[in-house]
Amino acid sequence: MNSEILIELTYLASAVLFVVGLKRLQSPATARAGNALASLAMLLAIVTTLVDTQILSWTGILVGAAVGGIIGGIAARRVAMTDMPQLVGIFNGFGGGASALVAIAEFAANPGIGMGSTGVTIMIGTLIGAVTFTGSFIAFAKLQGLMTGNPITFPGQNWFNLVVFLGILFLSVASLGVAGLAAEPIVLFMVFLGAALVLGILIVIPIGGADMPVVISLLNSYSGLAASAAGFVIGNMVLIISGALVGASGLILTQLMCKGMNRSLANVAFGGFGGSAGVDRAQIGKRPVRSADAEAVAAELGYVNSVVVVPGYGLAVAQAQHELRKVADLLEERGVDVKYAIHPVAGRMPGHMNVLLAEADVSYDKLFDLDEINADFASTDAVLIVGANDVVNPAARDPQSIIAGMPILDVDAARRVIVMKRSLSPGFAGIDNDLFYLDNTLMFFGDAKDSMASLVREVRDLG
Ligand code: TAP
Repeated sequence: MNSEILIELTYLASAVLFVVGLKRLQSPATARAGNALASLAMLLAIVTTLVDTQILSWTGILVGAAVGGIIGGIAARRVAMTDMPQLVGIFNGFGGGASALVAIAEFAANPGIGMGSTGVTIMIGTLIGAVTFTGSFIAFAKLQGLMTGNPITFPGQNWFNLVVFLGILFLSVASLGVAGLAAEPIVLFMVFLGAALVLGILIVIPIGGADMPVVISLLNSYSGLAASAAGFVIGNMVLIISGALVGASGLILTQLMCKGMNRSLANVAFGGFGGSAGVDRAQIGKRPVRSADAEAVAAELGYVNSVVVVPGYGLAVAQAQHELRKVADLLEERGVDVKYAIHPVAGRMPGHMNVLLAEADVSYDKLFDLDEINADFASTDAVLIVGANDVVNPAARDPQSIIAGMPILDVDAARRVIVMKRSLSPGFAGIDNDLFYLDNTLMFFGDAKDSMASLVREVRDLG
């Protein structure tokens, strides 16, 4: 078999592995294997390209793979689960930057390329890659607290961004030698590139830190589009396919997150959410509640038939998943049926709760999505809410509320509701939660890990 066919076949194999890997990410049970398959596909694709283009010796390839692998491995091992969106953000930034570099190198090699399909693709790849690069680093800085997480706005911002964008379009056409400007194409191209990098910053600064996971998911999609464009530029089939897969899946994920919050993408991009304008914060948590200690909560949970656990962001902050699992095990030993209700945007990133519960080896068949479990709450004896707030807030049913229309878990229909959190403070949306003040609700105040540890002891001591 000649080497050209072998290379095409290897590309085909890695493209197939990407698709199968992505498919396996659909379920937590197969996700690890899916990740491994997709990583293998990436390794195959990179090595094949390097061997094909003969730009690196085998030693160079091995050293590069070892250095990259060590940096990636350390970064992934050290990152806390709650910081995962930042890590993904930075990886997206590098992906966009790499795709932009491919397109830039191709332009530098053919400065007078003209308006043909390659020229246009170079411009698209550079633009999307550069926007993704700077946009992702701003998103990272906001989430990491390196800069303010508040929206940074100025009068006429959207118009200014539009003018910059139109300027970029003009410069891209001019760089291809179509506008008839006297300047050197490469100079025009550098200005175009600079403006694209600035646009990435301009697009992300007005978005509040709390909306960053949605932005990161969107930038993830952009990084895929940039990679696809780079694939067209250099005629690399596997780059086109993998880029398209990332582009499409990132977009679907962005849409799912927006749907889970009942917000449009435009509202995330231009809406300035999270400031809870119109909400009287002084009134939050001022009404009387019923509270209970670990002993009383153990009694509420230990003598019933069914308990549904609703995990939220506070479970991740407290890292209480292992203690939660112990409580669930003890309840099950007592004959209680324990299930977990998973809201699509509980926590701060897609699949956040699934990952946490998987860490504690909670069996996947005990996890139920919102649609699957909502009708069951009316026949549930007790709901144990662990560090969740917005995803169970009945205010979503009020058309006047800022979270109006957000799908919620109908926990208030259960016979008894127990809310484990530190105070009556609001969650991500910044609004009060009427659930806390209902007759069937008991507040169990404290850090979720400490509260869960005392609950383990009390359930164990039940007769
Ligand atoms: P939130 O509404 O943010 O509420 C979390 C609650 O956890 C807080 O009210 C806090 O109350 C409590 N908490 C924090 N640390 C705790 C600890 N150590 N121990 C016990 N409790 C603790 O969370 P949620 O219900 O999971 O909702 C998620 C929100 O994030 C939604 O509004 C969603 O739209 C938004 N969002 C989600 C995503 C994704 S993809 N998941 C992306 C962007 C935005 P105390 O301070 O009183 O303890």
